[in-house]
Order: sequence, then structure tokens, then C-alpha cells
Amino acid sequence: MAGYLPDDFIDTLREQTDIVEVIGQYVELRRRGQSWVGLCPFHTEKTPSFTVTPSRDMFKCFGCGKGGDIYSFMMDHQQLSFGQAVEQLAGRAGIPMPRQTGAVSDDSGRKRLFYANEFAGQYYHGLLTGGKGGAKALDYLKKRGLDEKLIAEFELGWAPAGRDEFKNAALGHGIVEDDLVSAGLLGVSEQDGKKFDRFRNRLLFPIRDSRGRTIGFGGRVLDDSLPKYLNTSDTELFHKGEVLFGLDKARGQISRESTALVVEGYMDLLSLWQAGVRNVVAPLGTALTSGQARLLARYAKEVFLLYDADRAGLKATFRGGDGLLAAGVAVRVVTLPGGQDPDDYIRANGREKFESLLAGAEDLLERKIEILKRKLKLEVVSQRELAADKCLETVARCSNELVRELYMQKTAEFIGVPQSVIAERLRRVSEGAPRRKSGAGRSGDKAAEKKSTSAGYLLALCLRNPEYIERVQEKLGRDPFERENHERVFEAMLTAWEDGVRNIGEALYTNLPEELHPEIARLREIDDLEPAGEVFDRAWRKIEIGRIEERIRAVIGGKDPEGQSAREELKTLRDRLVNLQRELPGACWLIKN
Ligand code: CTP
Ligand code: MN
Repeated sequence: MAGYLPDDFIDTLREQTDIVEVIGQYVELRRRGQSWVGLCPFHTEKTPSFTVTPSRDMFKCFGCGKGGDIYSFMMDHQQLSFGQAVEQLAGRAGIPMPRQTGAVSDDSGRKRLFYANEFAGQYYHGLLTGGKGGAKALDYLKKRGLDEKLIAEFELGWAPAGRDEFKNAALGHGIVEDDLVSAGLLGVSEQDGKKFDRFRNRLLFPIRDSRGRTIGFGGRVLDDSLPKYLNTSDTELFHKGEVLFGLDKARGQISRESTALVVEGYMDLLSLWQAGVRNVVAPLGTALTSGQARLLARYAKEVFLLYDADRAGLKATFRGGDGLLAAGVAVRVVTLPGGQDPDDYIRANGREKFESLLAGAEDLLERKIEILKRKLKLEVVSQRELAADKCLETVARCSNELVRELYMQKTAEFIGVPQSVIAERLRRVSEGAPRRKSGAGRSGDKAAEKKSTSAGYLLALCLRNPEYIERVQEKLGRDPFERENHERVFEAMLTAWEDGVRNIGEALYTNLPEELHPEIARLREIDDLEPAGEVFDRAWRKIEIGRIEERIRAVIGGKDPEGQSAREELKTLRDRLVNLQRELPGACWLIKN
């Protein structure tokens, strides 16, 4: 790709790329402390001196001296130009490439959104600390035990009640209205199209990316009105499932200790911070997504989950916990007494008690087993089987072989059968699993999202040019799509096509239930399908690449990843992967979501 690629884009992409995952496709890597090691692909060696350090986004071979970031790896290993390396990684991450012609303005567009957020942060902080309107909010924070130093450090803010106080201040400062809307700071009235302040009468928590730039806000009311919290909705800068509140400040300490705490809320985090706990982050009101898990895994080897012990909290614990195991992190669960959250607990009991609570945290699988023992009637065979499957859900996600093995032992002991039986059942579960799991639409799973994008293009293409329906099957087999919705739409297309129907779109609306109509509408909206041949060639290859990557992960995480046949399969898979990637047409439009 000729010409100009904005630095900011290059940095963001480097940050969002998991260097271990990408290099791991080409080189077998094992974890060693903060780094991963393997046999150097650039020179011949018998003992591994090739090291990948995710917290620094770098690789280095201590044998031959070669080193650099993910771009230099791709350039040297895959013989790509810089532009090609960027494009390939952007495609993987599902980040649209800046268009060549508009590159300069795209970049300055992002910069303007950062600037709008920064201005907003300062403005709201000024109102909180400047007396007058913010005084009651400041008072509220102090009552909850937060001091001025912390309030300044996190630049907490106060949004006044009016509909356009912030808007007027920002416009007066020379920021254009469109940028304020794009940054999520203003809403647009459905009635008259007027723009108004999104955050009103709320205490504000600025949310920062891992480099410390403000990209959004969470806002809490001071009373019992609803919603209690309001967050920035997704913008070009802010993707809720990919940010961790506090990571910009905590990541140094997390790296040093190799340990992180995950709490549910803003107030939990701030309260722990006030008490001197510095290795803590919070997802934004959801279970940890797999994107957040991977982000955290760059800094932490062990994570403590401190969710509520209620139903929702437990669900979040196990969902997030399994995601962390998949990212290669050990997970422990802290159970807080009496329905308290970490904020309540530490204020009532102090730091020392809190630390001893952490010391007593149970391993994720043990916690699960304990709950299963309590909830199920294990003397009933079918319930015991259910318990085994519940445990295997967790075992199956482990990417660390040693932990996986230990978990299998534990499960076997708990269920009371030989380990070989558990191993066999796991094999069956994990072979059947990927399809179902991604069918359920796990959010934040990068690989699944990427596939669904390519799948979307293929389906949209078939909708417009039905002759592609058969070609999709030629390339991808009888079950070309993973997501259930896609599968159902494709089946209906195929039936219509085989029945000789001319207007496939209409047939879909008639033959598919109403719940799928929005999906059909979305497909009809995809409009950049030219040239069709290239779209097709790129999309099916990307799906195939995704399948191979998944297979590689399965083999690596499998029962006997060192065995002769596994080695051979890996070699074949990696060769196919490299070939497919080479064959990808160069255009970048498909990456657009
Ligand atoms: N949350 C949200 N939207 C809501 C409610 C909660 O995004 N309507 C998120 C927020 O990130 C919040 C976290 O979920 O911090 C936990 O919510 P909750 O337990 O209700 O609040 P606390 O953090 O305990 O806040 P407080 O102690 O101030 O009540
Ligand atoms: Mn609370």
C-alpha cells in the first residue's frame, strides 16, 4: 500500500493485536514468566531463545539478535511490505484501514474525538471541584470515603442538570457539534433533531484507553433515580467490551505483581485504590469479554475475580473466568461475605482483612465444584453427569496445558470416575463445542466477529447474485457458516435457488420467521460488493483462514500436542494458512464492518 498511514492508526493496531496469538500461528510458543518462548524462526536452533513479550508488544531472539514489533515480524517472516503487514493485521483485528485518499482527515477525525473527550473531562472535573453546582457531588464522594487527591488523579467530574450547558461550553471552545455527537458527548433529539448533553446531573468517571487517553464516561446519579449508571455508547474510540476501567493506571503494578484484581464497578475500584490497592481493573458493567480477558492477559498471570456472590455475579464470574483461562491466565475467585461488594468490604474491614480475603481465594474450578455440590443432587446419576459437563466447560477453555491437566484430574476426582473417562468426554465436548458456542453469539470474540463479517459479505453477495450460492458451497462445504442465523438464511437461499425462485430476497422474508427479518435487512444494506469476484475470493478465504486458526488452537491445546501426528497436522495447517493469506486479494474494503 503506497503512501500515508497515520501513526495513530499504526499504534492503535499494534496495541489491539495480540502479538502472542499472531506469532503463535507461525511459531510454537510456551509461556515463561512474563514472556513466551519458542524456537527462533529466523535461525536454526535446538533450544528456544526466541522470546515474545506481550506487555511490551515486542519479540526478540537472544540467539540471532533479531527483534522488533509485530509489524517487523510479519515483514521478515512473511516477506511482506510494511503496508501489507499493516493491512493483514488490520484485517485480523477487524479494524477498517484508513482509506488512502482520506487518510489524513480520518486520522485528524480520531484526534478531534480524543480532543473532545479531553475537553469534556476537564470541563466536568472543573465543575466538580470548582464549588457551586458540583458541591453536592463532591460532598457525596467524600461521604463515600474518596479524597481530593484521588478525585484529581481520576479526574472525576460533575455534569450539571441543563440540556446544553456542556454543549455551549464546548462550542464556545471551538469544538464542532458533529464531533461532540461522534464522541458520544451529545445526544440527538428524535423529535426535533436538536443536540443535547448526554450526561446531565451525574457524577462522571472518565474511561481511558490503556495509554491514558479519555475515550468515554460512566455517569452515576446521586440519588435512587434510574438508570443508576449511564455509559458512553459505542463510538469510533470507545468500545465497551474492549476497555478496562483503570487499566491505564494499574497496568504497571499488575505487570510487577503479575496479578490483577477484577471488580464489577467504578466505585469498587476507586475505593480499593483509595485504600492503596493498585492492581485493580473493572469491566464496564458486564462479565469480562474475551477481548478484555486478552487485554488483561498481557499484564497478568493470575487474576482474582471479585464479583457479587448472587446469581448474576456468579454467572459473570464463570463466564469471565473461562475467558481468562482461554487467554492463558490462572483464575481465583474471592467470595465476599454477606452480599457485600469490594467497596463495602474494604471500607468496613480495612486493607489488611481485605488482603487476607485475597489470600484465601479459591481456584475457579474448585469454586465451581463447591457450588455444584451445593446445588445438585450428586447421588442422582444424571445430575452427576450434568456436573461433569459443567466442569468440562471450564476445562475445555484452558489454554495452559498444565492447568488443563490438573483440572481434568480434579474433575475426575469430583465425579468419581477414572481420568481417562473425563478425557474422552472432553474430547467429544470440545469437538462439538465451537459450533454451538459461536452459534450462541458470544460477544467480544474477535475470531467469531471477523468470520461473521466475511459471512455477511458472502450472504449479501448471494442475495444479489444468486449464482454465488453454489460457489459458496464449493469453497466452504455443505455447512459454510458457523452462526446459526447465517446458517438459517443460507439454507433458505439454497432452497429458493433450487426451487427456481427469481427474487431470493422476497423468498427469504416469506420463508423465514420474523425474528430473522432484521438479519435479512442488514444483509440487504451491505452495499460495497464490487467487484463481486474479489469480494467472493476474499471472503471465503477469510472464513477458511478462521477455521484453520481455530483448528490450530485446538491441536495446540489438544491431548497430545507434541505427538508426531499433531506435529504433522500443525505443519500442514500452517502451510495452508500461509498460502491462503498470500492469496488474499489486496483490497481493503472487506475489512470494513
Ligand atoms: N452498571 C452499568 N449500568 C447500570 C448499572 C451498573 O453500567 N445501569 C455498571 C457500572 O459499571 C457499575 C457496575 O455495573 O459500576 C456495578 O453496578 P452496581 O453494583 O449496581 O453499582 P456499584 O458499583 O456498587 O455502585 P454504587 O456502590 O455506587 O451503588
Ligand atoms: Mn457498591
